[in-house]
Amino acid sequence: MERTKIFKLLECDSPLAQVLIKGWVRTRRDSKGFSFIEVNDGSSLKNIQVVVDEKLPHYTDIKKLTTGSAIAVSGSLVESKGGGQRWEIQAGDLQIIHLAPEDFPLQKKRHSDEFLRTISHLRPRTNKYGAAFRIRSEMAFGIHKFFRERGFRYLHSPILTGSDCEGAGELFQVTTLDLSNPPQKEGRADYEQDFFGKEANLTVSGQLSAEMFALALGDVYTFGPTFRAENSNTRRHAAEFWMVEPEMAFCDLDGNMDLGEALIRELTTYAMDVCTDDLELFARWVDKKLMATLENIAQSDYIRLPYREAVDILSQSGKNFEYPVGFGNDLQTEHERFLTEEHFKKPVIVFDYPKSIKPFYMRVNGDEQTVAAMDVLVPRIGEIIGGSQREERLEVLEARMDEMKMDKTPLWWYLDARRYGSVPHSGFGLGFERFLMMITGIRNIRDVIPFPRTPQNIEF
Ligand code: 4AD
Ligand code: MG
Repeated sequence: MERTKIFKLLECDSPLAQVLIKGWVRTRRDSKGFSFIEVNDGSSLKNIQVVVDEKLPHYTDIKKLTTGSAIAVSGSLVESKGGGQRWEIQAGDLQIIHLAPEDFPLQKKRHSDEFLRTISHLRPRTNKYGAAFRIRSEMAFGIHKFFRERGFRYLHSPILTGSDCEGAGELFQVTTLDLSNPPQKEGRADYEQDFFGKEANLTVSGQLSAEMFALALGDVYTFGPTFRAENSNTRRHAAEFWMVEPEMAFCDLDGNMDLGEALIRELTTYAMDVCTDDLELFARWVDKKLMATLENIAQSDYIRLPYREAVDILSQSGKNFEYPVGFGNDLQTEHERFLTEEHFKKPVIVFDYPKSIKPFYMRVNGDEQTVAAMDVLVPRIGEIIGGSQREERLEVLEARMDEMKMDKTPLWWYLDARRYGSVPHSGFGLGFERFLMMITGIRNIRDVIPFPRTPQNIEF
């Protein structure tokens, strides 16, 4: 007989004579003549109760079943006589696949997130992390669905690259040179002898590749891992994180903002539609205001605010910010949260940032001081999307690269795109983990990544 997932059984309308489930024991309770076992197979937040009659063979072994043990149960799905659940399984046969020792760390009590991080290999077996990672899976699917419905093509941009898209120098270097004794040339490591014949790193963004493909396929998106050696141990930075990066040909900054807003609103609605049970857990135990926040994010029209006006609002707020406010200073999390949580009380898209704090590829505005950048800010998280219209004018792009003292040679191909059929185009990057933090109310990025990588931490 084929195994049925528990979430399917819980959706049944009528009893079933024969079912087989396989999963892990959450709890066991004995009463006169029976043992009641709560089984979870990871397919849903809910367990199914298995009722074992003492007449079953190996009943003495079954009574020794510990939390965390793996079992297979066949029997019939019947209406539950006890309260709390509609269905239960009357076991006809129960096989112990593996008996876990008594020291299984996830006994029935609440554990701190910090402790659970030390057992990241087991935490998906808890209610909270099972829910978080089911939501992560559903949201990944939702992203593909969103773009596919709009005619975007999915691009696999390279993970290994020779370029630094953001120019922020937060690269993880990739090499096969012997680090204890690298070949030398002119006083430094000789990368000509390295695997690729030149310096290589892990990608910080798929954008530059996406631009090339947008100028060929029209609308594309990448969705994959990106890496940044930012040595900041914050709750919203990881060294390895996933980014969703759409790129649209024939599209200006307004169209870009429209897409960013639509993506967040639709995916939030999608989460509320398909992850109902799992989200309820977060609304109950993690953030009491979660559902109201999500409704607000799904239903509001987002404020569109030029950077200069954002600076005015912040300067006049009467708030004592830790970081300075003023034209030329980047917005910090505290500023972003003030704008979204206190001032406007909804998501805000800040655009036209000073050129001096943004990368080379952003389109220079008529004022020569600002670029056509936009960041989407949401309550509790701050920046969730960063994007821009790209500089499509070859001379302006080259001048900007010179101004920033960049070597244009390795980016010859990027400049080529401005030589042959250059068009206005735009795109952005959505931090997938920041999005998941927003959806679940989880406050630390380490808790929405299966095995988080942060400074001094690459266990598992
Ligand atoms: O604003 P960023 O740096 O933009 C880019 O990388 C552009 N090349 C994207 C594009 O236009 N195609 O990063 C985009 C988003 C941020 O808004 C944030 O949500 C997330 O990526 N992000 C991080 N998430 C987790 N950990 C980090 N260290 C992150 N750095 C950026
Ligand atoms: Mg950014």
